[in-house]
Amino acid sequence: MDIIDIIARKRDGAELRAEEIAFWVDGLSHGRIPDYQSAALLMAGRINGFTRRETAALTEQMLASGLRLDLSDIPGIKVDKHSTGGVGDKTSLVLMPLAAAAGLRAAKMSGRGLGHTGGTLDKLESIPGFRVDLSIAAFKEQVRQIGLAIISQSQELVPADKVLYALRDVTATVDSIPLIAASIMSKKLATGADILVLDVKYGNGALIQEIASCRELAQQMIDLAKANGVRAMAMLTSMEQPLGFAVGNALEVREALDVLEGAGPADLRSEVTLLAGGMFLLAGIAPDEQAAQDMAAHLLDHGDAREKFAAMVRAQGGCDDFSRLPRADRQIVFAAEREGWLTAFDTQAVGHAAMLLGAGRKTKEDAIDPAAGLVLQAKLGSRLRAGDTIAVLHCSETIDPAPALELLRQAVVLGEEPPAVQPLAADVIR
Ligand code: URA
Repeated sequence: MDIIDIIARKRDGAELRAEEIAFWVDGLSHGRIPDYQSAALLMAGRINGFTRRETAALTEQMLASGLRLDLSDIPGIKVDKHSTGGVGDKTSLVLMPLAAAAGLRAAKMSGRGLGHTGGTLDKLESIPGFRVDLSIAAFKEQVRQIGLAIISQSQELVPADKVLYALRDVTATVDSIPLIAASIMSKKLATGADILVLDVKYGNGALIQEIASCRELAQQMIDLAKANGVRAMAMLTSMEQPLGFAVGNALEVREALDVLEGAGPADLRSEVTLLAGGMFLLAGIAPDEQAAQDMAAHLLDHGDAREKFAAMVRAQGGCDDFSRLPRADRQIVFAAEREGWLTAFDTQAVGHAAMLLGAGRKTKEDAIDPAAGLVLQAKLGSRLRAGDTIAVLHCSETIDPAPALELLRQAVVLGEEPPAVQPLAADVIR
C-alpha cells in the first residue's frame, strides 16, 4: 500500500477502505508516515468528508493505537461523561459524584483547558493538594472503593489522537464532524465505561456553533458507542452564555460545591439533573425520566453527592476544607455603562477574558492562576441600570485587568427589548 495513493483517493472523493485507514493510522503512530502526508490526508478528508464507514474504521484504528482500559473486574455499572467544551462548564464536578452517590461507578479521565474553554483537571487542581496523575491501578482501586475517580488522561491512551489532534490544530482541520467524533470516541471507548453521557454544546461559546451540526456529531458519536457495545445518550445544550455564573478554576469548584449542597445556579443544577436523569435511565436504576431526575435532585439536596465529592478529594490527596480554596488578591467590578436588557453574550470572548485574567492558557505550556477568573452577576434576560454590576473579575496584583475589561465590554450586548427565552437543552438523542 502507498500513502500517496491513499491521499490521492481521498482527494478525488473516494471512500477509503478499512485497510487503507489502518495503514495510515498505524503508519502515523509509528513514525513511518510523516506529518505532511497525514496533514494532506486530513485536509482532503476535511474537504471531501468521511463516510460513516470510514469514521468507524478510523475510530477503531485510533483505539487500537494504544492502551485500552479494562474495568470489567470492578463490580457495578461503570459510567463516563464527555462535554465538547464550553465556558463555565463545571458539570463533571457535580455529575460524576452524583453518579457515584446513585451507586454507579464513575470513572473519568479528563483533559486540561486551552484557549477560551476550561478543563476539569485544572478545576480539580485548584483544590490544594489534589492529584490527577494516579496510576491506572490506583485509579481502578479508587473507583472500586468509593465509586469515583477523575484523573488525567493516560499518555498511553490513543497516542494516534495526539499526533492527529496536534496536526489538525495547525492545519485548520479541527472542525470536521467525523474527525471530532473519532477523536472523542476513541478516547472514551478506550476508558472502558459501560455507559456514556455526551454533552454536546452549541452556540457562540461552543466548538461547533450550529445546532444541526451538533445533532449530527451527537448521532455519529452515539452510533460509534453502540457499535462498540457502549450505551450512550447525548444532550445538546446551549453555550450562548456561560454555564452558571463562575468562570475560572477555584471559582468554578466553589460553584459546583454550591450545587452539590442543593443550591447554586439554576441553569447548572438543571443541566446536571438532566444529564444525570439520562444516565440513570440508561443504567436502569430509575423507571422513567422523571423518576431519574427526581433521584438526582434528592441526592443533591441530601448531601450524598457532596459526600462523594469530598471522598474523592481526600482519596486524591486534596484538602476537603473548601474554605481553603485559593482566592485572588484583587476583585474588580465590571459594570453596565447604560441601562438595558442583557440580550447576548459573546461567550468565547467571556472565556478569553477569564483566560487573560490568568484562569486559562493561550498555549499548552502556559501556567494558570487557580484563583483567577470572573463571576457574572447578570445573565441573558437580566434588566440592568447604568452602574449595575455585570461581573466581578478576580485576578492577582500582577495582572493588568484592562484588556479583559475591554473584551467584556465588547462581549456583552445590552438591548432595548428583553431577549427571547432560550431553552438550556435543545434536544436529547438516545
Ligand atoms: N475534543 C477532542 O477530544 N477532539 C476533537 O477533535 C475535538 C474536541
